Amino acid sequence: MATDGRRSVALAITGASGAIYAVRTLAALLATGLDVELVVTDYGRRLLRDELGEDASVERLEPYLVGRYGEAVAAGRLTVLSNRDLGASLASGSHRAVGMAIVPCSMKTLAGVAHGLSRTLVERAADVMLKERRTLVIVPRETPMSLPQLENMVRCAQAGAVVLPAMPAFYQHPKTLDDLADFIAGKVLSALSIDHDLISNWSGRVQATSKAHE
Ligand SMILES: Cc1cc2nc3c(=O)[nH]c(=O)nc-3n(C[C@H](O)[C@H](O)[C@H](O)COP(=O)(O)O)c2cc1C
Repeated sequence: MATDGRRSVALAITGASGAIYAVRTLAALLATGLDVELVVTDYGRRLLRDELGEDASVERLEPYLVGRYGEAVAAGRLTVLSNRDLGASLASGSHRAVGMAIVPCSMKTLAGVAHGLSRTLVERAADVMLKERRTLVIVPRETPMSLPQLENMVRCAQAGAVVLPAMPAFYQHPKTLDDLADFIAGKVLSALSIDHDLISNWSGRVQATSKAHE
């Protein structure tokens, strides 16, 4: 919880490809009215700009989100924390964030979390989630993967994290990159037990509106 009783969640953006997953997840969390405590690594900052343009730089994220996803994102409150600040509230088990997601998660940060290194606020906050038995969602992105990378995912899963690779599905016939991002963001919110309408529940049949064979 935030100090005024509002519910809060932590989101980390690291330097793996897939910035669109990060901004979609952030917008969806804010649209639910949550306080979002955001930490972006140096390479996460670079990937936001490289993949989405200068308008998506951390300093301009709020107007970027409103422009891309609409005024609904204003329901939440965004606080950006320095990845170098190991004294931030998120670094303590007394912080009552309901959970944390790392979207996308680089193999470097994955390794740091898997081995409990706590060198940065992202790593420390993830470590806190694990030790406090709260929800930690890790969205790794790399291909192919080495044995150490696979083992690091296993270590995180064994410690209680939800390992949710950036692997969008195609059975709902996505038409745009935003459809793919909605799918991953929806999975992240579901893993955090946060209601959303980003993806419809599987009904047992592929949607009839499919244009796949046209
Ligand atoms: C354009 C670009 C794309 C990258 N994509 C990935 C990726 O998909 N997965 C990954 O693990 N690392 C990727 N990297 C490498 C990471 O950014 C690098 O290992 C960095 O040290 C990660 O640091 P961080 O975890 O503190 O953000 C990429 C780097 C660049 C410059």
